[in-house]
Amino acid sequence: MNRRTILGAALLLPLDGLAQTCGVITPRQTEGPFFTPNSPKRIAMVEAASKAARLVVTGQVLSASCKPVPNALLDFWHSDEKGEYDNKGFRYRGHQFADGEGRYRLETIVPAEYPGRARHIHVKVQAPGKAILTTQLYFPGDRRDSLYRPELEVKRLKGEETRFDFVVEA
Ligand SMILES: [Fe+2]
Repeated sequence: MNRRTILGAALLLPLDGLAQTCGVITPRQTEGPFFTPNSPKRIAMVEAASKAARLVVTGQVLSASCKPVPNALLDFWHSDEKGEYDNKGFRYRGHQFADGEGRYRLETIVPAEYPGRARHIHVKVQAPGKAILTTQLYFPGDRRDSLYRPELEVKRLKGEETRFDFVVEA
């Protein structure tokens, strides 16, 4: 190896390293006992009669190399304003597909705490044809429990608007 080759390698390696460590795969969490398959396709899950505080979560689904994942599947479910899940129907359950830039938008309510758990939103995210990533989202400043992970906190933007970007196998 001559001097020029060595210099070249030294310059290239850090750049490659950066590209590969761009995104850390979102931590996985248990799906818990209340997942129901075949949720309706919708971005707005708010029940018209609900007086609960509204919540909007927006963000992007990205690959580990930080490329948007077009048409990623997102399936959300959470408890209602009393901390209860609808296990017979589909209240506060819904799936959607990210747009061509991997962007999604969920319109819902702030779920209530229920005994033993920090407030959370369950979600399954899947790049087309890839493995499903199951996890939960949390709210900054909330009471924590043993599952709570700061990396899974939504970022508060303005008012009811929050943001969370998912990084998945793609
Ligand atoms: Fe839950």
